[in-house]
Amino acid sequence: MQDNTNNTLLTVAGLKTHFPVRGGLLSRTKAWVKAVDGVDLAVQRGKTLGLVGESGSGKTTVGRTLLRLIPQTGGKVVFDGRDVFSLTNSEMRVVRKRMQIIFQDPVGSLNPRMTVGNIVGEPLKVHSSMTRTERRTEVGRLLERVGLAAGYARRYPHEFSGGQRQRIGIARALAPKPDFIVCDEPVSALDVSIQAQILNLLSDLQDELGLSYLFIAHNLAVVEHFAHQVAVMYLGKIVEVADRDDLYNNPTHPYTKALLSAVPRPEPNPDRERIRLPGEVPSPINPPSGCAFYPRCPLTRQRAEELGSSERHTVVVDGQAAPVVRRCTIDVPTLKPTADDASHCHACLLQQD
Ligand SMILES: Nc1ncnc2c1ncn2[C@@H]1O[C@H](COP(=O)(O)OP(=O)(O)OP(=O)(O)O)[C@@H](O)[C@H]1O
Ligand code: SF4
Ligand SMILES: [Mg+2]
Repeated sequence: MQDNTNNTLLTVAGLKTHFPVRGGLLSRTKAWVKAVDGVDLAVQRGKTLGLVGESGSGKTTVGRTLLRLIPQTGGKVVFDGRDVFSLTNSEMRVVRKRMQIIFQDPVGSLNPRMTVGNIVGEPLKVHSSMTRTERRTEVGRLLERVGLAAGYARRYPHEFSGGQRQRIGIARALAPKPDFIVCDEPVSALDVSIQAQILNLLSDLQDELGLSYLFIAHNLAVVEHFAHQVAVMYLGKIVEVADRDDLYNNPTHPYTKALLSAVPRPEPNPDRERIRLPGEVPSPINPPSGCAFYPRCPLTRQRAEELGSSERHTVVVDGQAAPVVRRCTIDVPTLKPTADDASHCHACLLQQD
C-alpha cells in the first residue's frame, strides 16, 4: 500500500504504538501492550479508507497515533509531504488544523458545560483570527451545514439526541477546514436509521469539500457502501487491504473471509457460509509468534492436514488439539500484493509463495 503519487494525502509506514504495563511497588514496566505493531496504510485525496477489525485490534490507537494525540513507538507518518513525527509543536499546530477526528461516543466527546456554539467555535478561536461576531456567523453556518439550526448554538449537548450530537461533533471537526478526518466509529453508538443519515452527511461533505477519511469500524457491513478502499486489522497489524469491491468480492486472507461471512446479505448465498473462528483474539501483550492469526486460522489447519509431521505443529484451541503449518508459527508475514492485483495486498505466508 505504499503509494507516493500526488494522489496520496497520508502515508503510514511501519507504525508502532506500544503501551507500558506497570506493576509492583515501584511501578516498573513489566510488559508492553503491542496495540499497533507495524502498520502500513495510505489514504488517497478525497477518498475514504475503511479500517476494520474486532475490538482491541488497535484501530483507535492507529488513528490517535497518526494525529499525534498519543506518542508513537516507531514508524513514520507523512501528511501531504510532511513527516508528522518530526514537526515541532508550532509546526504541528498548523498541520493539526488540517487533520481532525470525530469520536465514537457523541456524549462523552462533547463538554456538557459548554454551549454548542462554544464547542463548535473553539477550534476557530484556536486556529483563526476571526472576531467574535465572525465566529458566531461561522458557527451558525457550520451547524446548518451539518443539518442543525443555527439557533442551536445557544443550547447544551444534553438537549440533543445521539444523532444530533454526532452532527455537532462533525461541525466541530469541520471548523478548522480540515483536509483529513479520522472518523473513529462515528455511527456505532447510533440507531441503524440514524447511522445511514450520518453516513450520508459524511459522504456529501466529502464530495463538497474534497475531504479524505480514515473511517474506523468494527465490522465490514458499515464501510461496505462508504469506503473506497478497505484495510483489515488483526492484533496490531494490517492483514489485507484492497479496493472496496475487490475486497468484498474476492477476499483472500482467512481472517477477512471470516469477517465477511458474518456480514448479513439481502439474498442468502449458500456458497458463503458463516465461518466461525475457534478461540479468542489473543492478548496484544503476548501475541502468538510468527503469524499472530495461526491459532485461529482455518487455512493453516487445512494445509497442515496435507503435510508430514516435520512441517506440522500442534496447537490446543478451545480445549482441542489442531495441526497448523509450522512455518506459520515462526515467520512473520508482511503485506505483499496478491498474484493478480498489485493494489490488493495481503499478509499470508501460505498464499505468497
Ligand atoms: N492507553 C492504553 N494503555 C494500555 N493499553 C491500551 C491503551 N489504549 C489501548 N490499549 C490496548 O491496546 C489494544 C488496542 O486498543 P484500541 O482501542 O486501539 O483497539 P480498537 O481496535 O480501537 O478496539 P475497539 O473496537 O474496542 O474500539 C487493546 O488491547 C487495548 O486494551
Ligand atoms: S500465514 Fe498461516 S496462519 Fe497466517 S493467515 Fe496465512 S495461513 Fe493463516
Ligand atoms: Mg476503538
